[in-house]
Amino acid sequence: MAETAPYVSFKNVVAGYGGGDVLKGVEFDVPQGGVTCIVGPNGSGKSTLLKTVSGLVTPRLGEIWFKGQNLVGLTPRQILRLGVVQVPQNHSLFREMTVNENVELGAFLVKDKKVIAQRMDAVREMFPIVIERANDKAGSLSGGQQRLVEFARCLMLEPDLVVLDEPSMGLDPKTLRSMFATIKMMNNMGRTVLLVEQNARQALKMSHFGVVLENGKVRLSGSGTDVLNNPEIGALYLGGSIEETKHAS
Ligand SMILES: Nc1ncnc2c1ncn2[C@@H]1O[C@H](COP(=O)(O)OP(=O)(O)O)[C@@H](O)[C@H]1O
Ligand SMILES: [Mg+2]
Repeated sequence: MAETAPYVSFKNVVAGYGGGDVLKGVEFDVPQGGVTCIVGPNGSGKSTLLKTVSGLVTPRLGEIWFKGQNLVGLTPRQILRLGVVQVPQNHSLFREMTVNENVELGAFLVKDKKVIAQRMDAVREMFPIVIERANDKAGSLSGGQQRLVEFARCLMLEPDLVVLDEPSMGLDPKTLRSMFATIKMMNNMGRTVLLVEQNARQALKMSHFGVVLENGKVRLSGSGTDVLNNPEIGALYLGGSIEETKHAS
């Protein structure tokens, strides 16, 4: 993957929920065409950061640049139209609707029936589960299968930027590997991927860029390998903070 100009640029992003700030001046760039992985301890603000990208949380200060526009202040729908699609941390399929219906819903911004049909075909080719379980209720699928259907649904908008919050959560090791392979496949198709992962080691290995978020700030960023090999980062894989390890050692 060639090095390119920033695709998404976080500039001093400060955000929270009423009381205090969760994000305390987040700054980093997401390069175009790659997989960028955010890791960090629980509660460090990773999900909040992703929510600022899709407009679910509006920063109090700062800017988020994408395609020459500041996303801060745009509605989630406007951001979706710009080609940013997020798969949230918790399962988000309509359990009582079929797999087919759920995937079709992904194209809710598309009016042209022919385009929808073409995209359904493309998505079915990528995700056999969408064919195999087409008429089953989404709620009857395993956690891993639901994730794949969520990916399929998000691709119906042909997003330029795919935002994934802990896609591996609750998956067994085998499903987890195929899920990571699926993320790689989406990236190879030209989608820029921004993801948060608790399986940090595995995720950083397949990522071009890594960002360590600690206590609402970027502690460190660099190539996936640089972050992975940084001696201070070990503790984060265990869910502790860098400071705690320093004191412990
Ligand atoms: N909807 C919310 N309302 C109030 N506080 C929240 C909300 N969501 C998250 N928080 C708080 O914000 C902090 C960061 O949460 P989050 O962004 O989910 O962290 P992470 O994804 O890194 O685990 C936590 O202290 C959490 O309790
Ligand atoms: Mg989270």
